[in-house]
Amino acid sequence: MAERTEDVQAHWTRPGVLARIEAALTELGHDPQNLSPETLATLEHLHSGGLATTRHQANRIAVTEDSRVLDVGCGIGGPARYLAHTYGCRVDGIDLTPELIETGRVLTERCKLADRVVLQVGTCLQSRWILRASGLKSFASLSLISPGWQS
Ligand SMILES: C[S@@+](CC[C@H](N)C(=O)[O-])C[C@H]1O[C@@H](n2cnc3c(N)ncnc32)[C@H](O)[C@@H]1O
Repeated sequence: MAERTEDVQAHWTRPGVLARIEAALTELGHDPQNLSPETLATLEHLHSGGLATTRHQANRIAVTEDSRVLDVGCGIGGPARYLAHTYGCRVDGIDLTPELIETGRVLTERCKLADRVVLQVGTCLQSRWILRASGLKSFASLSLISPGWQS
Protein backbone atom coordinates (compact mmCIF):
# COMPACT_ATOMS: atom_id res chain seq x y z
CA MET A 1 0.00 0.00 0.00
CA ALA A 2 2.82 2.39 0.91
CA GLU A 3 4.32 1.83 -2.51
CA ARG A 4 1.03 2.75 -4.20
CA THR A 5 0.73 5.86 -2.05
CA GLU A 6 4.21 6.93 -3.12
CA ASP A 7 3.35 6.23 -6.76
CA VAL A 8 0.28 8.48 -6.57
CA GLN A 9 2.21 11.22 -4.77
CA ALA A 10 5.01 11.04 -7.33
CA HIS A 11 2.47 11.29 -10.14
CA TRP A 12 0.79 14.41 -8.74
CA THR A 13 3.74 16.26 -7.19
CA ARG A 14 4.69 19.31 -9.24
CA PRO A 15 7.94 20.75 -7.83
CA GLY A 16 7.76 24.53 -7.54
CA VAL A 17 4.05 24.68 -8.32
CA LEU A 18 3.50 27.72 -6.07
CA ALA A 19 6.30 29.67 -7.77
CA ARG A 20 4.86 28.76 -11.16
CA ILE A 21 1.40 29.91 -10.16
CA GLU A 22 2.86 33.17 -8.82
CA ALA A 23 4.76 33.75 -12.07
CA ALA A 24 1.62 33.12 -14.14
CA LEU A 25 -0.43 35.48 -11.96
CA THR A 26 2.20 38.22 -12.27
CA GLU A 27 2.22 37.79 -16.03
CA LEU A 28 -1.57 38.16 -16.00
CA GLY A 29 -1.20 41.44 -14.07
CA HIS A 30 -2.31 40.15 -10.64
CA ASP A 31 -0.65 40.59 -7.24
CA PRO A 32 0.22 37.00 -6.15
CA GLN A 33 0.09 38.04 -2.49
CA ASN A 34 -3.47 39.32 -2.65
CA LEU A 35 -5.75 36.78 -4.32
CA SER A 36 -9.36 35.75 -4.83
CA PRO A 37 -10.98 32.69 -6.44
CA GLU A 38 -11.74 34.93 -9.43
CA THR A 39 -8.09 35.81 -10.04
CA LEU A 40 -7.11 32.15 -9.63
CA ALA A 41 -9.96 30.82 -11.77
CA THR A 42 -7.88 29.77 -14.77
CA LEU A 43 -5.16 28.15 -12.65
CA GLU A 44 -6.67 26.30 -9.71
CA HIS A 45 -9.29 23.84 -11.05
CA LEU A 46 -7.16 20.80 -11.83
CA HIS A 47 -9.61 18.78 -13.90
CA SER A 48 -11.00 18.74 -17.41
CA GLY A 49 -13.40 21.59 -18.01
CA GLY A 50 -11.80 23.74 -15.29
CA LEU A 51 -14.08 26.23 -13.51
CA ALA A 52 -17.06 25.37 -15.75
CA THR A 53 -16.97 21.76 -14.55
CA THR A 54 -16.61 22.84 -10.91
CA ARG A 55 -19.62 25.15 -11.30
CA HIS A 56 -21.64 22.40 -13.02
CA GLN A 57 -20.84 19.87 -10.28
CA ALA A 58 -21.60 22.39 -7.53
CA ASN A 59 -25.02 23.02 -9.06
CA ARG A 60 -25.80 19.31 -8.78
CA ILE A 61 -25.48 19.32 -4.99
CA ALA A 62 -27.57 21.55 -2.77
CA VAL A 63 -24.83 23.61 -1.10
CA THR A 64 -25.90 26.35 1.28
CA GLU A 65 -24.16 28.62 3.77
CA ASP A 66 -24.84 25.97 6.43
CA SER A 67 -23.27 23.11 4.47
CA ARG A 68 -20.06 21.37 5.40
CA VAL A 69 -18.45 19.81 2.35
CA LEU A 70 -15.68 17.23 2.35
CA ASP A 71 -13.63 17.47 -0.86
CA VAL A 72 -11.66 14.25 -1.24
CA GLY A 73 -8.64 14.59 -3.54
CA CYS A 74 -8.86 18.40 -3.35
CA GLY A 75 -5.50 19.10 -5.02
CA ILE A 76 -4.52 22.75 -4.42
CA GLY A 77 -8.08 23.44 -3.26
CA GLY A 78 -9.54 25.38 -6.18
CA PRO A 79 -13.02 23.77 -6.03
CA ALA A 80 -12.97 24.01 -2.22
CA ARG A 81 -12.28 27.76 -2.33
CA TYR A 82 -14.89 28.20 -5.07
CA LEU A 83 -17.57 26.57 -2.89
CA ALA A 84 -16.63 28.54 0.23
CA HIS A 85 -16.44 31.81 -1.69
CA THR A 86 -19.64 31.27 -3.69
CA TYR A 87 -21.90 29.73 -1.03
CA GLY A 88 -20.25 30.79 2.24
CA CYS A 89 -20.03 27.15 3.34
CA ARG A 90 -17.24 25.38 5.19
CA VAL A 91 -15.07 22.97 3.16
CA ASP A 92 -12.62 20.38 4.46
CA GLY A 93 -10.26 19.16 1.76
CA ILE A 94 -7.99 16.15 1.90
CA ASP A 95 -5.41 15.09 -0.64
CA LEU A 96 -2.70 12.49 -0.74
CA THR A 97 -0.03 14.83 -2.17
CA PRO A 98 1.67 17.04 0.47
CA GLU A 99 3.01 19.64 -1.96
CA LEU A 100 -0.47 20.34 -3.32
CA ILE A 101 -1.88 20.74 0.20
CA GLU A 102 0.96 23.09 1.21
CA THR A 103 0.39 25.16 -1.93
CA GLY A 104 -3.36 25.13 -1.36
CA ARG A 105 -2.98 26.41 2.20
CA VAL A 106 -0.90 29.39 0.99
CA LEU A 107 -3.45 30.22 -1.73
CA THR A 108 -6.31 29.87 0.77
CA GLU A 109 -4.62 32.29 3.19
CA ARG A 110 -4.03 34.78 0.39
CA CYS A 111 -7.72 34.50 -0.59
CA LYS A 112 -8.63 35.18 3.07
CA LEU A 113 -10.67 31.98 3.20
CA ALA A 114 -8.71 30.11 5.88
CA ASP A 115 -11.62 30.40 8.31
CA ARG A 116 -13.81 28.33 5.97
CA VAL A 117 -11.41 26.15 3.96
CA VAL A 118 -9.18 23.67 5.81
CA LEU A 119 -6.87 21.48 3.72
CA GLN A 120 -5.09 18.42 5.09
CA VAL A 121 -2.96 15.58 3.78
CA GLY A 122 -5.05 12.40 3.81
CA THR A 123 -6.36 9.58 1.69
CA CYS A 124 -9.82 8.73 0.43
CA LEU A 125 -9.15 5.28 1.83
CA GLN A 126 -9.74 6.87 5.24
CA SER A 127 -13.10 8.40 4.27
CA ARG A 128 -15.08 6.36 6.79
CA TRP A 129 -12.72 7.39 9.54
CA ILE A 130 -12.95 11.02 8.41
CA LEU A 131 -16.76 10.93 8.51
CA ARG A 132 -16.71 9.52 12.02
CA ALA A 133 -14.08 11.96 13.25
CA SER A 134 -15.69 15.02 11.68
CA GLY A 135 -19.23 14.16 12.69
CA LEU A 136 -20.40 14.56 9.10
CA LYS A 137 -23.19 12.22 7.98
CA SER A 138 -22.30 12.33 4.30
CA PHE A 139 -19.94 14.07 1.96
CA ALA A 140 -19.88 15.36 -1.59
CA SER A 141 -16.71 15.07 -3.58
CA LEU A 142 -15.82 17.16 -6.59
CA SER A 143 -12.64 15.24 -7.01
CA LEU A 144 -11.29 13.25 -9.90
CA ILE A 145 -9.31 10.42 -8.33
CA SER A 146 -6.83 8.45 -10.36
CA PRO A 147 -8.56 5.49 -12.03
CA GLY A 148 -7.82 2.23 -10.29
CA TRP A 149 -6.95 3.88 -6.99
CA GLN A 150 -10.25 3.32 -5.23
CA SER A 151 -9.72 -0.26 -4.11
C1 LIG B 1 -7.07 15.56 -11.03
S1 LIG B 1 -6.44 16.03 -9.41
C2 LIG B 1 -7.90 16.89 -8.89
C3 LIG B 1 -7.64 17.96 -7.86
C4 LIG B 1 -8.87 18.74 -7.43
N1 LIG B 1 -9.99 17.86 -7.06
C5 LIG B 1 -9.35 19.66 -8.52
O1 LIG B 1 -10.31 19.30 -9.22
O2 LIG B 1 -8.75 20.75 -8.68
C6 LIG B 1 -6.59 14.49 -8.52
C7 LIG B 1 -6.08 14.58 -7.08
O3 LIG B 1 -6.43 13.40 -6.40
C8 LIG B 1 -5.43 13.15 -5.43
N2 LIG B 1 -5.53 11.74 -5.03
C9 LIG B 1 -5.28 10.64 -5.78
N3 LIG B 1 -5.51 9.51 -5.07
C10 LIG B 1 -5.93 9.93 -3.84
C11 LIG B 1 -6.32 9.25 -2.64
N4 LIG B 1 -6.30 7.92 -2.56
N5 LIG B 1 -6.71 9.99 -1.57
C12 LIG B 1 -6.70 11.34 -1.64
N6 LIG B 1 -6.32 12.04 -2.73
C13 LIG B 1 -5.95 11.34 -3.81
C14 LIG B 1 -4.14 13.52 -6.11
O4 LIG B 1 -3.10 13.80 -5.19
C15 LIG B 1 -4.57 14.75 -6.93
O5 LIG B 1 -4.28 15.95 -6.25
